[in-house]
Amino acid sequence: MTAETLDESLNELVEVGALTTRGSNQALREEEFDDAWAWGIPAAMLHFGVQNNNYLSLEEAEEKQVAKLDTSRAPDLYTDNSGYEDVVPLVNNLGNSAMLSLMAKRRTIREVSSQPVQVNDIADCLFAGLGIIGTTANCTGELPLSMTPSGGARNPFEAYVYVNRVDGLASGAYHYSAIDHSLGSVRPHNGLLPAGDLVGNQDWMNEMACVIFLVGQLERSMWKYDDANAYRVVLIEAGHIAQNIMLAATEHNLTACPSAALAHEKVNDCFRLKGIATAPIYALGIGVPSRH
Ligand SMILES: Cc1cc2nc3c(=O)[nH]c(=O)nc-3n(C[C@H](O)[C@H](O)[C@H](O)COP(=O)(O)O)c2cc1C
Repeated sequence: MTAETLDESLNELVEVGALTTRGSNQALREEEFDDAWAWGIPAAMLHFGVQNNNYLSLEEAEEKQVAKLDTSRAPDLYTDNSGYEDVVPLVNNLGNSAMLSLMAKRRTIREVSSQPVQVNDIADCLFAGLGIIGTTANCTGELPLSMTPSGGARNPFEAYVYVNRVDGLASGAYHYSAIDHSLGSVRPHNGLLPAGDLVGNQDWMNEMACVIFLVGQLERSMWKYDDANAYRVVLIEAGHIAQNIMLAATEHNLTACPSAALAHEKVNDCFRLKGIATAPIYALGIGVPSRH
């Protein structure tokens, strides 16, 4: 092989990312990855492989599903007990339980009015999802406890709030501190992208009074757990936190609409998030529903 063909081959390997040039952005990202990611390549491929995805619009997604019906039967979305010999009917207590009624009232309502929401209602949502209400301890010291369970009490989530119309708050981007129960201003609204741009260009999100973003601080969990299953644990926790936020919103007659269609880089820019172990995972748009 001549020096020329060797150069060509090396350039090709650099182009496809199999080799990096020392000091290049790619090399720096790899160094950061080696330092900061403890959960191996398969979990990294899942995590980084779905960042900043292109998402289908509602119309495109519907068209695709309708086309699929021509060639493939849609799977049943629940399973009844008709195949079992003994079936025990259970009491349905929905009409008698305030807790079940609240849960049943929760709905994703993407049509909201232009009314602002109250800062105290958003405070309740944040507190229900992430507020620290006590501590426990293990061999490493004190661990925070909140109203949602957390694998190893590692508390891997922070919340950031994109404020459009909240009575009592200037519009802009905020960080929620779960230990202080306060909001720190990250930046004013001036110059922020519309909220829908942060969630796969879904325009209905632009109308929400505010949007809560759940952001994983993966190093908290990686510090204790070096196996990739801990990544699953973090994702599961987002669901617990979001459900509490949604129920608190419902209690205040608000809708909290979830989206996992994140534009990760735009979310990072909006809230000044840095580092590959800082991971926007989930968004909840909150507003006053304009229908029931
Ligand atoms: C993890 C997750 C991600 C979701 N992402 C979106 C989304 O990006 N856009 C959207 O319009 N709805 C999204 N939804 C809302 C669902 O479409 C909605 O929950 C579903 O239609 C059932 O309605 P309900 O929430 O009123 O029970 C998401 C829900 C979940 C649980």
